[in-house]
Amino acid sequence: MNNIHPNFDQLLSQKDQEKLLNQKAGVYWLTGLSGSGKSTLAKLVEQLLYDKGHLVKVLDGDNIRSGINNDLAFNLEDRYENIRRVSEIAKLFKETGIIVICCFVSPTIELRNKAKEIIQSDFYEIFINASLETCENRDVKGLYKKARKGDIKDFTGISSPFEAPTNPSLEISTENHTIEASANLLFEFITK
Ligand code: ADX
Repeated sequence: MNNIHPNFDQLLSQKDQEKLLNQKAGVYWLTGLSGSGKSTLAKLVEQLLYDKGHLVKVLDGDNIRSGINNDLAFNLEDRYENIRRVSEIAKLFKETGIIVICCFVSPTIELRNKAKEIIQSDFYEIFINASLETCENRDVKGLYKKARKGDIKDFTGISSPFEAPTNPSLEISTENHTIEASANLLFEFITK
């Protein structure tokens, strides 16, 4: 080993930080296909929570992958490393008393189990559900078109698997609800 001693006692606990911020911290892990609405929802809910006086951090794939994880691709091994790192980051924010909303495709049960294992307490898996057909029709970023043409490899839903959660804490269908209604469902779940 490399002489690391990770178990030093923290002076202030998550509970102390929560008291300071007057909120309950947690990691709300949004999983779903690209284009299902994860980041859009997170932004709306961040504003709703902020308006109620809460401190929130949104972590999302596109941003994280253009910064700290810009060395990672989309094969399963790199996705695993992506999720491992962001889970550690989410845990740090959570321990600081912050409400963390994570938006990652995190397409397999194994990846989401890894996130849960790292984050441990106050972890909520939230399935943002929209069918592949709907996401492909939306194609907000034009990525499905490219994936169909073979210009992007390992694309979730097209050339790489997506395993739907079997027992999520919450499931929101962005096909059956408007984006505002979906945001309200998530907001209520977080503030319940
Ligand atoms: S994850 O699978 O490792 O969790 P992550 O959420 O970070 O993925 O990144 C997904 C985002 O990257 C998508 O919303 C999309 O904009 C973009 N992207 C680029 N290439 C791919 C790909 N091959 N598969 C899925 N998403 C991709």
